[in-house]
Amino acid sequence: MPGRPVASRRTVLRGVALTPVAGLGATACSPGETGPARPTAPVDLGAESEVPEGGARLYRDHNVVVSRGGDGTLTAYSTICTHARCPANRLEGTTLICPCHGSEFDATTGEVLREPATVPLAKLPVRVSGGRIVAGPDA
Ligand code: FES
Repeated sequence: MPGRPVASRRTVLRGVALTPVAGLGATACSPGETGPARPTAPVDLGAESEVPEGGARLYRDHNVVVSRGGDGTLTAYSTICTHARCPANRLEGTTLICPCHGSEFDATTGEVLREPATVPLAKLPVRVSGGRIVAGPDA
């Protein structure tokens, strides 16, 4: 059949044309995949007094956010966004905001306040040592 090879060729060309588009889509959604990770060892974040009661403080250099509950308890989360791994780098009150696609998280619970992220932030161990906040694995 003379028309058959043409149809097959079109099908092949269509498949080739779609491949780069799919690749671009994956790239556009993963700007933070090579970004800095959360702490892999305990890190000294600073004086305990820097985190106000009922508030939170963002430690951009370490990709950690620490909050203090009404009872004085400290809680720490990785600021690596669970959507596509950008570091969330803005804190407004206790709302942590990711610059990549606008996800928002509650810095006191790690819960998602605004999608596209759907998974809460990763909780990190945190303790106070000599008046300093230490967060990260084995803290
Ligand atoms: S990486 Fe997409 S919203 Fe944070």
